[in-house]
Amino acid sequence: MALFARLKQKIAAVLLRKKTSPFVRPAQQNDAPLLSALYAEGGFSSSWTIAEFEALLADRAVIADVLCDPARPARLYGFSLSRSAADEAEILTIVLSKSVRGRGWGRVLLHQHATRLAAFGIATLYLEVEEDNRPARALYEGMGFETLGKRPGYYKKRDGSTAHALVMRCRLDRL
Ligand SMILES: CC(C)(COP(=O)(O)OP(=O)(O)OC[C@H]1O[C@@H](n2cnc3c(N)ncnc32)[C@H](O)[C@@H]1OP(=O)(O)O)[C@@H](O)C(=O)NCCC(=O)NCCS
Repeated sequence: MALFARLKQKIAAVLLRKKTSPFVRPAQQNDAPLLSALYAEGGFSSSWTIAEFEALLADRAVIADVLCDPARPARLYGFSLSRSAADEAEILTIVLSKSVRGRGWGRVLLHQHATRLAAFGIATLYLEVEEDNRPARALYEGMGFETLGKRPGYYKKRDGSTAHALVMRCRLDRL
């Protein structure tokens, strides 16, 4: 009987998760450990420590948003973090957990993040992306980012090779 009740509970949790969509909220200082763990899933050559995220989140020029699971609000699916200067900002990073990529949630997160940046008076958003990063480029191009130029050999990879970076820009009044 107890087993049956537990099974029913699990099914209800799955159905609830299927019905509900993730939501985006501003990042908080105590999100730093989860942001560091998510960043490690990004496949980047560098790692950012919890202390580095704490410092970023304490910086008034930094605007960060997280994507949450409505059924388990303590669980984060991804985040996006930008640094602003006057009416411009640069996306320093955006990462989704490997387990939820390709569901359109990266677009949800980036759109909400850009909307919040615009509300802070940011008119132009910049970023750098590895030329071969197809999912990220599809995400940015779909949001209206245009390529301004290329930085040859900009990224140094863990195996010693290099990769080109594309510099992209999006005018937020077009969102
Ligand atoms: C880049 C990233 C945030 C995209 O998030 P996501 O949730 O997987 O993306 P979405 O499902 O919202 O899809 C966004 C677009 O990318 C496309 N896309 C998704 N996965 C793709 C893949 N493997 N190959 C090609 N295009 C892909 C989608 O079709 C969609 O484009 P469309 O709207 O034109 O159809 C995610 O893949 C990620 O965290 N990657 C690792 C970290 C990273 O590279 N960050 C970017 C640093 S610049």
